[in-house]
Amino acid sequence: MKLILLGPPGAGKGTQAKRIEEALNIVQLSTGDMLRDEVASGSETGKKAKDLMESGNLVPDDMIIGMISSRIDRDDCKNGFILDGFPRTGPQAKALDELFAEKGMTLRYVIEIVADDEAMVERITGRYTCDECGSGYHDKFQQPKVDGVCDKCGSTAFSRRADDNAETVRARLKAYHEQTEPISSYYSEKGILRKVDGMAGINDVTAEINDIVRS
Ligand code: AP5
Repeated sequence: MKLILLGPPGAGKGTQAKRIEEALNIVQLSTGDMLRDEVASGSETGKKAKDLMESGNLVPDDMIIGMISSRIDRDDCKNGFILDGFPRTGPQAKALDELFAEKGMTLRYVIEIVADDEAMVERITGRYTCDECGSGYHDKFQQPKVDGVCDKCGSTAFSRRADDNAETVRARLKAYHEQTEPISSYYSEKGILRKVDGMAGINDVTAEINDIVRS
């Protein structure tokens, strides 16, 4: 099964993608994570992406389309995948259609997680991630069972993203409304868009998504 998770920064795309990954045994492809890996490795792509990401702007379409095209050919995508953070512009959505047509793949659903801007600032500025296994937590909404210890792997090392500050979040929300939100109607016209309420609790959002993907 191939799915897209659409939604503003902080809507819960990454949180829900990890749950779908486990439930359906399909892989999460986060373009944000791929770009952060490029930045950490100091590659040419990473050098070009770093300032754009830290200011809350999107990276150029051709950079990201090339990345996705080679990534979905890998063996771990054979069972299906969840696109988290891609596509994000009209040209990316059209390029994805072409890629799927070339590769004989079918997009099953685009699930849009709908959420309010102001709540997203609180969610993102409180977010942190386990350095070892990548599990996501939040100061208020998703704390580990034992304070300072990752539930999944037991690590005590966590970090916060360089772009998770209030000013950059507002720039990311602006980019979302201007460049990404319009693709919702593109998928609605194709009849594959499903909307879920991202202001509900994390488990309720998961239940709504499960109803869609299992239907
Ligand atoms: P990316 O990494 O994709 O960031 P984003 O879209 O801004 O989304 P986030 O990861 O911030 O939010 P999320 O929806 O995954 O929320 P999460 O589940 O973590 O992109 C970063 C940058 O890379 C972009 O700005 C751009 O520069 C570049 N980029 C990436 N893809 C690109 C592309 N295709 N084209 C061009 N540029 C691209 O949840 C947030 C927090 O809230 C967590 O702590 C979680 O525990 C909590 N939470 C989640 N759900 C709930 C809930 N229902 N209730 C309460 N708390 C919740």
